[in-house]
Amino acid sequence: MTAVGIDAVEIWTGNLKLDLPGTFAPEKGEDPEKYTKGLGLNASSFPDSYEDIVTMGANAAHRLMERKGLEPDDIGRIDVATESAFDNSKPVSTYVAGCLEQVYEGDFHHANKGERKFACIAGTQSLDDAYNWIRAGRNRGRSALVIATDTALYARGDDGEATQGAGAVAMLISEDPNLVELSAEQGYGSADETDFLKPNQQFPSVDGKRSVQVYLARMREALEDFESVAGEVHEEDFVYAPFHTPFPGMVRKAALLAFRHVTRDTEVEDELADEIGRQPRPEAFDSDDDYRDALREYMDLLKGTDRYAEWYDTTIDPTLTISREVGNWYTGSVHVARASALKHALENDRDLAGKKLLVGSYGSGAQAEIHAETIREGWAEEIDALNVDAQLAERYEMEWDDYEEIHDAHNHEMDVDIEEFTTPSEEFVFDGWGRMGERK
Ligand code: CAA
Repeated sequence: MTAVGIDAVEIWTGNLKLDLPGTFAPEKGEDPEKYTKGLGLNASSFPDSYEDIVTMGANAAHRLMERKGLEPDDIGRIDVATESAFDNSKPVSTYVAGCLEQVYEGDFHHANKGERKFACIAGTQSLDDAYNWIRAGRNRGRSALVIATDTALYARGDDGEATQGAGAVAMLISEDPNLVELSAEQGYGSADETDFLKPNQQFPSVDGKRSVQVYLARMREALEDFESVAGEVHEEDFVYAPFHTPFPGMVRKAALLAFRHVTRDTEVEDELADEIGRQPRPEAFDSDDDYRDALREYMDLLKGTDRYAEWYDTTIDPTLTISREVGNWYTGSVHVARASALKHALENDRDLAGKKLLVGSYGSGAQAEIHAETIREGWAEEIDALNVDAQLAERYEMEWDDYEEIHDAHNHEMDVDIEEFTTPSEEFVFDGWGRMGERK
């Protein structure tokens, strides 16, 4: 059977940067180490006044199409995953296609366009849709374009303000892909939750602390469900484990949970169980409180083992490098984590072809998906083509006043025609309603 998966990826960051320990923390009267050590963030990306989910998505897609030498006729499906949509009827993919049609001779009249919504997991769901579409033989030789694009902004003063970000990831899903092969094996953890909502409002209503617990619970269920179809997961099975990264500190918690899961019933568990007096399982304790205390103690001990530290440093930490500099990109975030890991491998001359990734996606509301991907021969060439370092370095670094102004502008509190901090060059820009997407 021909392999189906991600052939190529492109990343487009918002053109502004907010230094979290240097600019944000002092204004909030907070210790900078809450950001660098606690949340694991150095900076967030923000959209300039001429950027939005359409321009960032179209710019990522255009760069991808140019690099791969594609024309509209090569694309049979465009799906945009976003939780920042501004239109409840017309999908964002139609706006993106409209932008792209300005620079190509052909158009996308033949392409099926849609929009996927399930908070941050929607990007992965769109990948799954594209995979199914190709596997079903409905693609007529064409590829799918999946674009995950978000402006992850929170109301000023909300706890979530610490974990903002903005950017887009465009992915080409094809037969015989260069980057990674997807498979039919997936595991889910899904429940009706109200930890993070955006009911027709610009900024989300979030119960931040609870959202962290919901993320962990759904991930654990997804891992168990994945094992029920793919067999037991062991720590050495995967070279990297890119997880949804609202902020790297969240992934530190998820990684510990995953590690505990994949090392259960091994000597690690037995050895640490001796120290807490019993196996860290609910049935070994008289009350829930005793179990919770023991589990906390156990997890702290586990975190301190060399075996965990080595696994975290090699399998998890490299997935977080880009996220530390850009913050949360919602639907794009797990795809940024994959790119970050593969970039790390390229920079360290690792030979990854045939090796596997354990990908953990999560969306509030809430659902997690765990699946495996097999790295393909052409991965290094694809990752080498990314210019993400240059994009990050070229961002305009905002002072506090700049931040307040741009935040208000994106909350439609000011005319969008405010000062531009950066000068767009050869990119789609938002130029006001009715003139969306003109290319400067
Ligand atoms: N030095 C070192 N560490 C410090 C510190 C210091 N001076 N001060 C605080 N910290 C640590 C804290 O101990 C904490 O770490 P632990 O959780 O490991 O204990 C961490 O820094 C954050 O500190 P707080 O919890 O005090 O920070 P906060 O009150 O600002 O809340 C948050 C953090 C709940 C994540 C909040 O930013 C938020 O609501 N974010 C939006 C929601 C979110 O991202 N949830 C994630 C799961 S849901 C999801 O994944 C979907 C999605 O994309 C939104």
